Parts: sequence; structure tokens; C-alpha cells
Amino acid sequence: MRALLLALALALAVCCSLAACGSEAPEGTADRFEDVAWRPLPTGEVQRIAFGSCAHQWAPQPIWATVVATKPDLYLSLGDAIYGDWDGKQVVPFSEASMTAGWRMLADHPDFTQLRAAVPVMATWDNHDYGKHDGGAEFEHRALARRMFLDFFGEPLDSPRRRRPGVHDARIFGPEGRRVQVILLDTRSFKGPTRRDPRTKAEKQAAGLSGSMGRYVPNMDASTTLLGEAQWSWFEQQLAQPADLRLICSSTQVIPDQKGMDEWGNYPRDRMRLFKLLESAEVRGVLLLSGNVHFGELSGLKRDAYPLLEFTASGLTHINGDYAQFHNPYRMAGPVGKVHFGLVEVDWAREGGPRVRLRAIGEAGETLLTHEVPLRTLGG
Ligand SMILES: [Fe+2]
Repeated sequence: MRALLLALALALAVCCSLAACGSEAPEGTADRFEDVAWRPLPTGEVQRIAFGSCAHQWAPQPIWATVVATKPDLYLSLGDAIYGDWDGKQVVPFSEASMTAGWRMLADHPDFTQLRAAVPVMATWDNHDYGKHDGGAEFEHRALARRMFLDFFGEPLDSPRRRRPGVHDARIFGPEGRRVQVILLDTRSFKGPTRRDPRTKAEKQAAGLSGSMGRYVPNMDASTTLLGEAQWSWFEQQLAQPADLRLICSSTQVIPDQKGMDEWGNYPRDRMRLFKLLESAEVRGVLLLSGNVHFGELSGLKRDAYPLLEFTASGLTHINGDYAQFHNPYRMAGPVGKVHFGLVEVDWAREGGPRVRLRAIGEAGETLLTHEVPLRTLGG
């Protein structure tokens, strides 16, 4: 009996010590998702790249069957792969247990399992798989969130990516003349303070701003950054690598800057820095890919000859019609107001030079947006 009481007391003490240290489970007891298998990344030429964002892990996700049916060489997860800080009704305070539960639900999701089995995946995060709504560098649990994210997506323990403070990543696929570079930016780990829009709710409503729209105004502070200096330096190194098509991926929108949502427009210095960097003559073949906004669209920023294009695909399980209807002066196609993913297809062998076709595809395989351009017009 005494031994039993001692064992109970010991168990209680262990529980209390775990509770005292909050979300941090002791090393070795956490779910490292070692059972979650992924397809290896392509070793040769790629022609079809699918991408998407924003999926409620508790919801049916029939769109993955459609993604798989398009036979992409690669799928890019551009954020909100899970909603770890929200359960569909209310905010869930960050904890290792709640985030792990979210990732585990996605790992075992019968629809998502189809994608994992068939298509290699590269991923970056947005706020909800980071663990804090609109979160940035101030988020105290970001190191733990990063470890869980990299564990889930099967990043090898000895990968250089594990030694970087963010989750940004880059790869080049294919032979010379057909090289596709994928650059995944991290718009969370280094994101500086935002500035709140001072207007009242009524004033915002009168301006057509609802929900997450009208939350922020540009932060002109010279010390504020979105990517952080270390990531900028890494990014410039990636752009110095030779490539024929560069898919520069950001969880948040880069060109559209009118909604006052969590977007590059809140960081005008970083946004201009990006545009100037991409204007450089050596940086060719650029296509921006983004998500986050719960609708899809194609935006273009006017340049000398051809616009810089940004293809946004957001809403694998849900859509926001109000956001979709809000004016975007840069919009070239869309909005897409149905659940969808984006598909970038490159016809490398086309007579007259390679062509790039962009499509937003709905759950039933229907094309919701399409745009095709010669690769040579995708300047920096
Ligand atoms: Fe989202």
C-alpha cells in the first residue's frame, strides 16, 4: 500500500513539474511524427507544381484527391496547413499539446494521406501553423513551433534548415535550360511590429472593410522588417543561383496592399526592397506565389515591358467572399471565390520558347482561373 502511495505521489510530482514548465514536454516524449512518410523531392525536370494554403484539419479535405489527379511533380504548402491556434469557434492558447494535436489530426487525415503518398511536398508557414494569429518575431514559442513544423514535414535532423532560425528553404530542380527554383520565404519568424489601423469599426465598415481587413496600416519605421536581415541575405544568395523559372513563395500577399490584412503592404520598405531586387537584370523568370487571404487571384505590378506576376491561391477547405470582392487595383484575373488550389504548368518544349500556364482548380477539377504567358516575359 505504501509503495502504491509513493508511486502515486511520484506520478503527481511529474505531472506538476510538466504543468509548471507550460507547453514544453521533456525531450524524447514529444510526438516527432516519425511515422509520417513523405515522397522524396524530384531529382529531375519538373513541369507541374501545385500549391495552396489554408486548410482546417478537422474538416473534410476532398481537394487533395483533385490535387493528386493533376499529377503534380511537387506540392508547395504556403501556410495554414493546420489551424493550431483556433478550433473553428474560438482561439486556442498555444501549447505543445494543442499544436501537436493539430499536426497529428492532419497526419492521420484520410484525405491528406492521399497527397503525402503521391506527391512530394515543400512547405513554409503562415500564422495558424506558426501558432499565433498574425504572429511574428515577438512570439515566444516560435522555436518550439518551428521544431514541430519541421518534424511534421519530415525535415532530416541533420538538415542545414534545422540550423537556421526560420523555416525558409530553397531548391533547384531540373537541368540547365529547364531549371525551376523554389524559394520558400518565412514571413513569420522575423516579422517586426505592425501598426494598427486607427479607424473605428464603423469607419472601416463604411470603407467596405470587414473581418481581418482594415486591421493594419503600413509601418514606415526604418527599423521594421518583415523578412529580417539574415533572411534577406540568404534570399539574395538564392537569387544569385542560376535558374530559368523562379517560384518565390510567400505565405502572405506581396503585391496587393489595399486590404489592411496581414500582408507585405504593412512593411513598405521590405516590399520595395523586394521589387528593386527583382528588377535586377540577372534575376529572370520570376513568379510570385502566395496564399493566406481565403480567395484566389492573379495580380500584376506594371513594369517596363511585362508585369511582375503574383498568383495567390488560398482556401483548400474554406473561402471568404468579402475578401474576394474587395478592390485590388493590381488584379489581372479572378477573384476565385470557391475552394481551390493553384497549378503552375511549364511547357518546356513549346515551339517559340517555354510557356507557363497558371490555373486555379476547384474541388471537382474545374478550372476557375487561367492565365498563360511565355516564360521569357517573366522578368524580375
Ligand atoms: Fe488561413
